[in-house]
Amino acid sequence: MSASGAAVESDSVREFAGEVARAATLIQGGDIGSFRAALREPVRRIVARNDVLECGLPRPGNNVAESWYLYYDGLMSIVLFKVPMRPAVQPHDHGIWETLFVWRGEVRHTVYERVDDHLKEGYAELVERESALLRPGDFAVVAPPHDIHGFYALNEESYGITVSSGQYKPERLYFDIDARSYEVRKPRTLR
Ligand SMILES: [Fe+2]
Repeated sequence: MSASGAAVESDSVREFAGEVARAATLIQGGDIGSFRAALREPVRRIVARNDVLECGLPRPGNNVAESWYLYYDGLMSIVLFKVPMRPAVQPHDHGIWETLFVWRGEVRHTVYERVDDHLKEGYAELVERESALLRPGDFAVVAPPHDIHGFYALNEESYGITVSSGQYKPERLYFDIDARSYEVRKPRTLR
């Protein structure tokens, strides 16, 4: 793991960040379909690389034990992380858009919608909106108001890459679907 200089050590990761930033103008206009289409080729090129584990900088993860910055420019962050098999990453919200794609392995990824009236503290009803088995190069986009997701790996050596832009909510909600409840957590990192 190289720790020299900034997180941006690779021209292709920097180029990828630029492509995502250009594509992100689409999601700001609410056009998730075009955003997804614009991401497809840049994601394919990153997934084709075998060296991304060597070019990240370790970071304290909010939801996972092992994660590394591949890129951070004060606004956009690109984070590589090992996806746990169990416990699963608990369904949580973000407050900003985020895309998650699989670099290696297989990930079961589910997007939820909160359908209660938000009036009762600690109470939440979620319904599943989309669930997919993601393999290398497959990706999911979560964006407000549908920015709740949960996921887990189907095999030990599964890695995901998330890209997000802007600040996450300072207080994030983590949901227990069966109990119809949530708890508030403050992330350890700003991203
Ligand atoms: Fe997330």
